[in-house]
Amino acid sequence: MASTPTWHKIAASISEINFNANGLAEIDINGKTICIAKHNNQVFACTQKCPHAGALLVNGHVDALGNIVCHLHQYKFHLKNGRNISGEGYFLKTFQIEEKADGVYICL
Ligand code: FES
Repeated sequence: MASTPTWHKIAASISEINFNANGLAEIDINGKTICIAKHNNQVFACTQKCPHAGALLVNGHVDALGNIVCHLHQYKFHLKNGRNISGEGYFLKTFQIEEKADGVYICL
């Protein structure tokens, strides 16, 4: 049975998240690792691994248009909806993430 999605607080603010130089971070929530991306002061969340061949997306980068680019074969996925912008037909699972007055929350 699928469990109901719940909101989890992951940080007190965006600036508390430990992003690497490419604006990406990994966060563990209840034993699941999620990739968090920052683009234009907005945060996005997606699965840890690329849907193509499982590379860690934290090692990629975010392009100027807000697509996450996998470092292994440079496939691009839109961070808002997971669409495979570069056209290979894969789909990246994304999660709702919101910055609220008291912290950053992710829905899993
Ligand atoms: S593993 Fe990500 S593009 Fe191939």
